[in-house]
Amino acid sequence: MQKLEMLYEGKAKRVYKIDREDAYLVYYKDDATAFNGEKKGVIEGKGAINNRVSNHLMSMLEEKGIPTHLIEEISDRETIVRKVTIVPIEVIVRNIAAGSLSKRLGLPEGTRLKMPVLEYCYKDDTLGDPMVNEYHILAMDLATKEELAKIAEYAFRINGILTEYLKDLNIELIDFKLEFGRTPGGEIILADEISPDTCRFWDSVTGEKLDKDRFRRDLGSVEEAYQEIIKRLMGV
Ligand code: TMP
Repeated sequence: MQKLEMLYEGKAKRVYKIDREDAYLVYYKDDATAFNGEKKGVIEGKGAINNRVSNHLMSMLEEKGIPTHLIEEISDRETIVRKVTIVPIEVIVRNIAAGSLSKRLGLPEGTRLKMPVLEYCYKDDTLGDPMVNEYHILAMDLATKEELAKIAEYAFRINGILTEYLKDLNIELIDFKLEFGRTPGGEIILADEISPDTCRFWDSVTGEKLDKDRFRRDLGSVEEAYQEIIKRLMGV
């Protein structure tokens, strides 16, 4: 599949137009950023791992009835995805307190939440992706009430499916971030990626962090953590 014009370059991926009306090509980079791009680096081999891990998890979700953008993985770092307009909201689901939730509410990292927590952030780098609630989303017309209901329903279902799946691999799903897209037909589908860049994965026996927090917090063994995740998920 021939890459035509590059439509968009994000912090971790590039999106290309291809010779097909209903699809784009996504290319996964090794570049890593944190704190809204303030911290920059490279995680060797990350692009190839995230591409494969994300596609693996999305095809499993698809089988369980969650519509996703995945069409076909065409190389180590390249995937053909359905053309969507991204809903400009980051959808975060949390099972255990960590990161910004721990900071904001004074809950020690590792505190189990009594029920999963759903959060939304407005995707706007110049504003630093501020947290918003349903009222902000409707008032700013970022999504309709029906779309938001669908997004919340999918987010909780995805949490259940991923938590169960990862448990068997001795991985605890602490929290994760999703993005959804609108197809030209108006359908809401899961887009972007699900990877160690966008999830917190802790080893359920040792508590070791197996995700991008190793890069964000300078914990070392960053590449090894990404490799450990693909090994547990895909046996490679
Ligand atoms: P947070 O605790 O920093 O708010 O992060 C919550 C989850 O969202 C965590 O799994 C990491 C993920 N995340 C992203 O995927 N992109 C981001 O820009 C941020 C801030 C977090």
